[in-house]
Parts: sequence; structure tokens; C-alpha cells
Amino acid sequence: MPAFTATAPAKIILFGEHAVVYGRPAIAVPVTSLQARAIVRPEPRAPHGQVRLVAAAIGLDALMEELNPDHPLRRVVELTARELGAAYLPACQINIQSTIPVASGLGSGAAVSVAVIRALAAYLGKSLPDEVVSTLAYEVEKIYHGTPSGVDNTVIALRRAVYFLRGQAIQPLRVGRPFTLLIADSGIPSPTATTVSEVRAGWQQNPAFYEQRFDQIADIVQQARLLIENGQPEQLGDLMNRNQILLQEVGVSSPELERLIATACQAGAAGAKLSGGGRGGNIIALVDEWSAATVSESLWKAGAQGIILTTVQ
Ligand code: MEV
Repeated sequence: MPAFTATAPAKIILFGEHAVVYGRPAIAVPVTSLQARAIVRPEPRAPHGQVRLVAAAIGLDALMEELNPDHPLRRVVELTARELGAAYLPACQINIQSTIPVASGLGSGAAVSVAVIRALAAYLGKSLPDEVVSTLAYEVEKIYHGTPSGVDNTVIALRRAVYFLRGQAIQPLRVGRPFTLLIADSGIPSPTATTVSEVRAGWQQNPAFYEQRFDQIADIVQQARLLIENGQPEQLGDLMNRNQILLQEVGVSSPELERLIATACQAGAAGAKLSGGGRGGNIIALVDEWSAATVSESLWKAGAQGIILTTVQ
């Protein structure tokens, strides 16, 4: 019996995290060197409709109905089966593997959802449009944190750079000239749900302060979009630094992230900022062929727990 496999990339947010939850735009890109993978294997001898979910990395090996109805993996399988018009799935085992670190702002949850959706669709001999894959994954994102903007599931389902505005049709972003980023992991896990709810608490207390920062971030995103489309990525560094200051002001940076960002800039990066929910997780630094090695070495020395070089194209 054949197995049906699908993969989905990680993602980083270049500009606009947090503000995007409040209706401002964001720019996000896939990171294909990190991937979630779902493998669906038919189990013809198992009772009809029996689905076994296996994710060795989190110690999961269970029948689907044994899981809480709100378990993200149960939810994604049920939503996908419903979307595909399958009252029962032919018995199978779904194996999930991922090289994307969790709770680090790289979209691990959305990537697992997208991989499972596509592998299940293939198992049933169908394929789903990117928009539908994204919408299904968004439903699962709501379990991870109540008010996701939808940027993670969108960029991961689309597998290319996006200019994202909540509630609007997916807008792929044309990259006029490729550019290179270093993604450095602080090693501090930081679930997006936590920072998103802290920002919400702050916003509720002082909406004017937060709205003003979100507007400034929106302005930066618009400028960044033009530079990316027009093939002037070397000018993005200044916008990254300005976005970072605003993220500090809304309270999602941390001394560890600030240290990595300062290190990257001192070593020759054109700009750097946190990416994703913040507090822990990853920073991104804009480098070129001359600065990449020096910046990378300095980040390791400053305590980065992992570094990825990625080209945005
Ligand atoms: C998470 O990758 C980005 C945030 O803006 C949350 C969201 O957009 O849902 C922090």
C-alpha cells in the first residue's frame, strides 16, 4: 500500500507582527529549510474509520477518538475529512515529523496543520486549493491562540512571500531581487499565545499608545513592501531597526533578543529585529555575501542556539 506524504515549510515574519492582529498589514516569507511532514499510511486491517496519530517528538501515539476534541491534530483531521466530504476516513496511521522548533515564532503549529491537510487530501485522491488549506489551518490556529491574524497559515499554505492583511484575499508579494537573512534562535521558548494576550492586555489598558505604535508599524510595512517589490532590499535594514524599536515599546522584546540584535548589527548586519511573537524565539538579521559569515559567527558567540541562513526570493 502506498503512503501519502506532504510537507510544509516554516515561516518568518519580516515586518508587522502583533500589529497584524489589529488589522494592520504584515509581510511574511516561507523558510523551506525547516519543514513539517505528514505521512498517511493506509491500515487496511484496522476497523473502518480508525485513525492513529503518531508524533514521536511529542510522545504521541493514540487513536484519534482518544484525544480531546480540542486537540489540534484531532481537529485538523476532522476538519479536513469534513471539507473533503468524507464521513469516515478509510483506516490509516498519520505520522507527523517536524524539524521546525516549537514556540519560537516559526509557525510550527500551522506547518503541521498544512502538512496533515495536504497529506490527507492526497490519501483521499483529492487536492485542495491553497486558500482552502489556509482556512482549515486557521481554524486550528485558533486553538493555539484565540485571536490569530491568519498570517502564519496563509504564508505556509501559499509557500511564497505574502503581503498580508487580515480578512483580505491572499496577496502574494513579488520579490524584485533576492536577499539574505540570518535567523538566530535565542533558545528561549515563547508561545505566541502568551505574548499575544499580553499585548492585548496592554492595548485594553492604553489603546491610544498601542494604536499609535501599530500605525507606525503599518507605515513601515508599506515602505518595506515597496522596497522588496522594487528590488531595493539593502534598504530594508533601517526599517527592521525601526520596527524593532516599536516592538520593544509594545513590550514583546527581551534582554536576550536585544543582545542578539545588537550583536548582529555591530557585526555588520544592515538591520535586525525579532520575528514572530517575541520575548524569546528568533531574531532575523539582514546580511549580504560579505557580512553573513562574520554576523553568524558573532551570533554564535553571543549565545544563539541555532542559526539558519535563508534567501528570500
Ligand atoms: C505570530 O507568528 C505573529 C503574531 O503577529 C500573531 C498573529 O499574527 O497571529 C504575533
